[in-house]
Amino acid sequence: MTLSPASPARALRLGVNIDHVATVRNARGGTHPDPVAAAIAAVAAGADGITAHLREDRRHIRDADLARLRAEIAAPLNMEMAATDEMVAIALDLRPHACCIVPERRAEITTEGGLDVAGQAAALAPQVRVLREAGIRVSLFVDPDPAQIAASAAIGAAVVELHTGAYAEGRAGEYERLRRAAAQADEAGLEVHAGHGLTYGNVGPIAALPQVVELNIGHFLIGQAIFDGLAATVARMRQCMDAARKFPEL
Ligand code: PXP
Repeated sequence: MTLSPASPARALRLGVNIDHVATVRNARGGTHPDPVAAAIAAVAAGADGITAHLREDRRHIRDADLARLRAEIAAPLNMEMAATDEMVAIALDLRPHACCIVPERRAEITTEGGLDVAGQAAALAPQVRVLREAGIRVSLFVDPDPAQIAASAAIGAAVVELHTGAYAEGRAGEYERLRRAAAQADEAGLEVHAGHGLTYGNVGPIAALPQVVELNIGHFLIGQAIFDGLAATVARMRQCMDAARKFPEL
């Protein structure tokens, strides 16, 4: 379905990524700050879901964190993961609400680009299928590129999460690419999410895209929480998103 500009906006969910609470915890090797406690606080402040990325090197979130998140939070859990047999096995055991498959390179600081779904369709398709058959919603983290979106639909993903990193860096033309990609994905029957690099200052135009129903935001929220507290930071992000959704022309 294509939404006309006059169509009522769909609800927009905020997924809070708590990876960097674990980054701070791991800096001292103890148990504080606890990412699960942060997840509980984020949900209490208005987050609709929690995202956590179990990296191959376990640099922030650990297996035990995911198990506790699954057991201790009622909100949907979105497990970010690379498309490896190890991660698929963990997801099948954990049964999160959703899995977001991302590219992963050990040397990168963060997830630097989208998944090459078009180039890796043969390898990704069986992993998407096995997760889907287990009742897990599968999301693919892709650049706003028509070929990647077409390939995501073709291999049976339920969701695409559009990588907003280049937009957040201010790259020319990137917002238009995201706008077109959101419309294409929606037209192809994919649910549309977006994330990476979003802040109070740049979230508005993304929240205003009518096809986007979920934003996943981490680094800015956890960093800003140092100054304002996590509850106030999550609440203010929600306000920024809701205002842009209600008055997209602002
Ligand atoms: N979505 C995905 C798929 C990601 O990999 C990340 C980064 O972990 C995010 C959203 C959140 O990005 P940021 O931490 O820049 O808000």
